[in-house]
Amino acid sequence: MVVSGFEVICLEEVGSTNDIAAEYAAIYPEHKLVIRARRQTAGRGRRGRSWQSLEGNLFFSMLFEFSLRDLGRLIMAASLSLVDVVKAYKPDADVRLKWPNDVLLNGNKISGMLLEKGAGNYMIVGIGVNITQSPQMPDMLYPTTSLAQAGIAATADDFLQKYLGVFAKNIDLTAASLRQRWLENAKNVGAKIKVLQNGKEQRGIFEGIDDNADLILRTDGGVQKILAGDVFYLGDENGGF
Ligand code: BTN
Repeated sequence: MVVSGFEVICLEEVGSTNDIAAEYAAIYPEHKLVIRARRQTAGRGRRGRSWQSLEGNLFFSMLFEFSLRDLGRLIMAASLSLVDVVKAYKPDADVRLKWPNDVLLNGNKISGMLLEKGAGNYMIVGIGVNITQSPQMPDMLYPTTSLAQAGIAATADDFLQKYLGVFAKNIDLTAASLRQRWLENAKNVGAKIKVLQNGKEQRGIFEGIDDNADLILRTDGGVQKILAGDVFYLGDENGGF
């Protein structure tokens, strides 16, 4: 099945859709693919964490050729498109982006993204969306929710269909306009945050992101660009998430 220029391959059960996408990158050149699975037995999250993959939720990986130099545009378009789809279901939804590419609904995580480089110029954009269930795991950094819990009656099939249509449009926007739209939809720009990077903690003001989607942090020592890490909002009632 082809949806918005992507050949969509739907599998019953895999370890991780990102791993299957990586295999396809080597054997199926010059194609735009989506690998989707109903179940993942070894779903992976960012920074070595696992992604609990409960049935009814959406797990997919997009595979296409994309220049690494343009990574910022890809990160912004892919995450912003998740917000756009949630708003297509419920225009007044309290849906917000949390750097680098988490999506929060009513302050809790509904979606995460794992970007990896495949063979050649391939990029793999793996996305998990909590459609009907919210995973609860002891090592989880953040509270989670699902679309169903927020009263949004979506199915994984329909969400994916809508997502690919929206992503196909957003990926053609310039970095500057994606950045502007990303910031309009971000949580807590201008607020105090803590950034954790490999055990190192930095505190400062979340000034926004640049065109590469790097985080801009104002600390006592000056302005810094952060390329990777986990963000916690300081002073939030729900434990700093
Ligand atoms: C995160 O928030 O830490 C990123 C989670 C990414 C999960 C998705 S589910 C589909 C794809 N396959 C994986 O193994 N991970 C991503």
